[in-house]
This record gives sequence, C-alpha cells and structure tokens, in this order.
Amino acid sequence: MLAVLALVSVLVVVSGSSVCPCERPELCQPIGAERELEVFVFDVGGKQWKSYNWTVVTTVAAFGKFDAELMCYAHSKGARLVLKGDVPISSIVDRANRTAWITKQVNLAKSQFMDGINIDVEQAVDEGSPEYFALTDLVRETTEAFHREIPGSQVSFDVAWSPNCIDKRCYDYISIAKYSDLLFVMSYDEQSQIPGDCIAMANAPLNQTLKAYDDYLALNIDPKKIVMGVPWYGYDYPCVNLSQEGICYIPKVPFRGAPCSDAAGKQKPYRWIMKQLGSSSGRKWDDEQKAPYFYYKDQAGQTHQLWYDDPQSICAKANYVTSKGLRGIGMWNGNILDYSDDPVAQQQTTQMWNALFGC
Ligand SMILES: *[C@@H]1O[C@H](CO)[C@@H](O)[C@H](O)[C@H]1NC(C)=O
Ligand SMILES: *[C@@H]1O[C@H](CO)[C@@H](O)[C@H](O)[C@H]1NC(C)=O
Ligand SMILES: *[C@@H]1O[C@H](CO)[C@@H](O)[C@H](O)[C@H]1NC(C)=O
Ligand SMILES: *[C@@H]1O[C@H](CO)[C@@H](O)[C@H](O)[C@H]1NC(C)=O
Repeated sequence: MLAVLALVSVLVVVSGSSVCPCERPELCQPIGAERELEVFVFDVGGKQWKSYNWTVVTTVAAFGKFDAELMCYAHSKGARLVLKGDVPISSIVDRANRTAWITKQVNLAKSQFMDGINIDVEQAVDEGSPEYFALTDLVRETTEAFHREIPGSQVSFDVAWSPNCIDKRCYDYISIAKYSDLLFVMSYDEQSQIPGDCIAMANAPLNQTLKAYDDYLALNIDPKKIVMGVPWYGYDYPCVNLSQEGICYIPKVPFRGAPCSDAAGKQKPYRWIMKQLGSSSGRKWDDEQKAPYFYYKDQAGQTHQLWYDDPQSICAKANYVTSKGLRGIGMWNGNILDYSDDPVAQQQTTQMWNALFGC
C-alpha cells in the first residue's frame, strides 16, 4: 500500500511539471488575448485539424485524445485548446467531491498546457433540486480556479438550444452565464422531443432556433457571453411511410417524456451527406424550416429522408450573430467535413467554413 501511494505521488509530481512538447517553449504559454469574434470548434480527434481555417479559429475544445501537436499548433495561431469536462452531477453535490474534481481538471489542463475547459454535462436536472444548485456552484468554482491557476484561461458551458427545460435540463442559466466566460448554445438536436406527429423534421429549423436565442437574451444574458453552435451533421430517418406530400413518418422512439425523438434517425456527417446527395432525390429546400433535405432508397429498398444543414441554412443563422452582437459561432464538429484534396470537396468545405460569417 505504501509503495503504491509513493508511486502515485511521483506521478503527480511528474505530471505537474511536464516538459513542454513544442519546438518553441513559448508555445506552451497559455493564450490570454481575446479576439473580436469567437470561433469555437469541437474537435473529436484525428488530424483533420491541420485543415481547419486557422485564420478564424479562436478555441478548440479537445473531445478526442489529447494531441500535443494540436496544442502547439493552436498556440502558434493564437487559439486556445480547452479540456472537455463532464461529471455525474449527483456526485458533485458533495462539496469536497466537487473541489476534488475541479482540482483534477486544473492540474490536467496545466500539465498539458491547455487554456481552459468546456463543461459539457447534458444531464437532466430539476429546478431547485440539490443538483441544480451544485451545478451552478461547479461552474462558479471551476471558473475561479481556472482563472486563478491559468491566467487568461476560458471556462465555457454547453447549453441546450433553448433555456426552457429542453430534455429536462432545467439549469440556472442566468447564474451559469454570469459565472462562466461563455455559453455555447447547441442549436441542434432540436427534435429530441417531438410532441406532435412522429415525422422527420430539420435538425435546427431557423425560426425555432432564433426564437430560442431571443429567449436566452430575454433572461438578460449578455450577448457577449453567447456563442451560437451550428450542426455540421444531419439526421437520416428511415420512413415507416411517406405521405403524398412527402412527409416522412418515423418510428416512435420516446425520449425524456416525449413520444418521439430524432433518436429514430441516425446522425450523419456533412461529408457523408454530400456523397449520398449524388444518389438521391436531389437537394430540396423546406421554406418553412429553411433547411435542405433529400430522399434516398437504401439497399433494402427502404425510403429515407435526410435533413441537414448546408451553407445556405447556416448563413441565415449566422446572420443573427452579427445582428445581435453575439460573442461568436462554432460547430459540432470541426472534423466532419471532407478535407481531402478532391476539388469538389474542397469547395464544399470552404463554403461551410465561410458560412459561419453570414451572408
Ligand atoms: C479563412 O477564413 C477567412 C475569413 O472568412 C477567409 O477570408 C479565408 O479565405 C479562409 N481561408 C481559406 C483557406 O478558406
Ligand atoms: C464522490 O464521487 C465519487 C466518484 O465520482 C462517487 O462515487 C461518490 O459517490 C461521491 N460521493 C458523494 C458523497 O457524492
Ligand atoms: C403513416 O403513418 C402514420 C403514423 O403511423 C399514420 O398516422 C398515417 O396515416 C400513415 N400515412 C400513410 C399515408 O399511410
Ligand atoms: C419566421 O419568423 C418570421 C419573423 O418573425 C416570420 O415573419 C415568419 O412568418 C416565420 N416563418 C415561419 C415559417 O414560421
């Protein structure tokens, strides 16, 4: 037992004083400078980051394995690399447990020369419950600890597309916004709870999306604390039947109190969607939801309806970032475009990045 304890403390000492893996030691310094527009990229691992548009990227949230090369590169471009933070909320109601979790994250970030943390707990919480208050305390204490230990670091928090208890996430959004550096609004998966007919719909219909930002702003949350999140993926739904008007009825999959959900579909990356578009009905445009979609038949002969976002639907959302003076924009996720050197793919990929800045 003693030997094990000794070993653990040696590891802690070693990781607390890691050697800078970058070619130039100054690249291990945390990024402190703020830029006018935040461009917040979720990265799920792999090397696609080499093809990101680094002129615009300001923060990369590392949801894959830590990649020292990415850290050095991001810093060379003045961009932050932040940790992913997730913890069962029931376990951090206990103050000592909460402090232990925060200390661990700060030490991990420091040992990897990272610039903050993105808190991504998407768990159901009842308003006024012990978890409700503990979550707010977690955000406040995490921000305090990061700002103290890593000067200039950033603590962000991922929120549902609307503040109205989506997926039973009834959090104290006002306080969470106040105590963190920014909220990343996940304006996607908006069909996770379908109340009416079980039909396929857009991942992030324009009006519903923008109305939800109005709701966040109506809580008096500072627009400079809000980053708009857009999807670089779509939903592929098998249709159990298709009406004459082309409405795709989907299997009933209940979710958090609703009878149907986008869980009846499969998430597909934009690069896959662009390939499938070639053997489909062709791109159609829904003028109510302001989103593209198409139909295709799979090998078993089943009809699918696929809803996605493309430069046209994204730029309409992105315009709101400028018109309301939000902090910035970002996407789930940076990896899922086609970064190959195929000329058609290259054009599609460039257009997706450029759509982030509106039209
Ligand atoms: C990167 O984004 C900027 C700003 O939108 C744009 O001017 C530039 O052309 C983009 N770079 C590439 C390689 O697409
Ligand atoms: C503290 O956290 C651990 C691990 O996350 C958990 O198993 C334990 O139940 C927690 N204790 C309390 C009192 O919440
Ligand atoms: C398709 O299925 C839905 C739900 O099961 C049903 O209400 C509807 O009438 C069906 N439509 C057609 C054209 O079969
Ligand atoms: C979307 O919102 C705009 C502005 O509020 C409104 O004029 C338009 O009718 C709405 N469109 C739909 C399809 O609801």
